Amino acid sequence: MADLTNDFLGVKSPNPFWLASAPPTDKEYNVRRAFEAGWGGVVWKTLGAEGPPVVNVNGPRYGAIYGADRRLLGLNNIELITDRSLETNLEEMARVKSDYPDHALIASIMVPCEEEAWAAILPRVAETGADGIELNFGCPHGMSERGMGAAVGQVPEYIEMVTRWCKKHYDRPVIVKLTPNITDIRKPATAARNGGADAVSLINTINSITSVNLDSFAPEPTIDGKGTHGGYCGPAVKPIAMSMVSEIARDPETHGLPISGIGGITTWRDAAEFMTLGCGTVQVCTAAMTYGFKIVEEMKRGLSEWMDDKGFASTSDFVGKAIPNVTDWQYLNLNYVTKARIDQDACIKCGRCYAACEDTSHQAISMSPDRVFEVEDDECVACNLCVDVCPVEECITMERLPTGSVDPRTGKRIETDYANWTTHPNNPLAPAAE
Ligand SMILES: Cc1cc2nc3c(=O)[nH]c(=O)nc-3n(C[C@H](O)[C@H](O)[C@H](O)COP(=O)(O)O)c2cc1C
Ligand code: SF4
Ligand code: SF4
Repeated sequence: MADLTNDFLGVKSPNPFWLASAPPTDKEYNVRRAFEAGWGGVVWKTLGAEGPPVVNVNGPRYGAIYGADRRLLGLNNIELITDRSLETNLEEMARVKSDYPDHALIASIMVPCEEEAWAAILPRVAETGADGIELNFGCPHGMSERGMGAAVGQVPEYIEMVTRWCKKHYDRPVIVKLTPNITDIRKPATAARNGGADAVSLINTINSITSVNLDSFAPEPTIDGKGTHGGYCGPAVKPIAMSMVSEIARDPETHGLPISGIGGITTWRDAAEFMTLGCGTVQVCTAAMTYGFKIVEEMKRGLSEWMDDKGFASTSDFVGKAIPNVTDWQYLNLNYVTKARIDQDACIKCGRCYAACEDTSHQAISMSPDRVFEVEDDECVACNLCVDVCPVEECITMERLPTGSVDPRTGKRIETDYANWTTHPNNPLAPAAE
């Protein structure tokens, strides 16, 4: 079995699977059971400043998007940070950390954007023995209206300033949690790094309205006839999160900045994908809320078996391994020519590939009177849409044309050389076109 023990910023944990700051990490009772179930670390539910705790709504706080089999694909919430007192949370954190010294315990914090507020809370967090802090600059609702959470995370200057305060008043790792509700994720990540952050974590939730009730004409979840936008998470947000992670990992300003990946992670495979894009640890919320703490068993087993298969002795062997293969569109090889291929034995003759290609792609699939579907290479642009809509896995695949053969669509010989848009004759900016 591969060794899953993890070291992120010097914080050791038995494995890279951490629970994200959210209901699963809201209290001692949960966190103890999470550690017993096998989670490597937790980011405690976000703490607020001393004083009366925030108040949550008393009606429904979640909404969801489902797949056809009612599998939960996206979760929307209007919950705030912890609604328990700071004192209670700190006491519980200290007890848990002392009983689980080998597990990672990170304190998530959101207090007003004033240095005194941070200077007041940080020594108290340090006393708990927590391994580090995560700055919640991401909460998209409720707290942002009070000048916290996403209201800070959307202004890079504020991120840099607050991170600097934290580095001044706290001597353990500082992780800045980023909001995806921003145009260019590289800007806040750069600001965090400039402020001295040891790492960034992302993503927090995405602004969302999951549904509108067509009888009451109110967004759901509905509180006495009204609704508000919430934060979206779960499997649906994974592609957005991975793209943002990869941008930070590739950008010269932030390349090498440690990343904790969050967003829709449900299986070991999701986790491995985030890690190959540069994440030294991953955090999970919705999957634990949907399936319970025990899903970590499958995550650990799956990751470990995959590592054995690939010959990876430790997680550091593959963290960031996919980054060199993420590039800009203009550098993709235009001499890589493929065509769709239909496995007639696997085909169930549903006709979805035909409808998709005929109506919205390149009219490259023919249908015979007895419903045999075939690809016409002289029309196929290899867009992959038929593969994506076919209900039978692996029934349609994309096959590369051999070099030296002629693409029947363009009449051009397939070249061996790699050639991209930067040098293409149709590119007005290409050297040859000058
Ligand atoms: C109900 C709920 C409450 C959350 N509360 C917090 C919070 O207090 N602090 C925080 O940083 N993130 C909070 N989050 C965001 C999660 O930590 C995480 O960033 C997000 O859910 C994406 O991960 P996922 O797709 O695995 O759920 C919350 C998410 C949910 C669903
Ligand atoms: S790859 Fe695109 S163009 Fe080719 S057959 Fe499929 S849908 Fe049509
Ligand atoms: S979508 Fe797939 S299963 Fe359906 S007809 Fe096309 S190839 Fe066959």
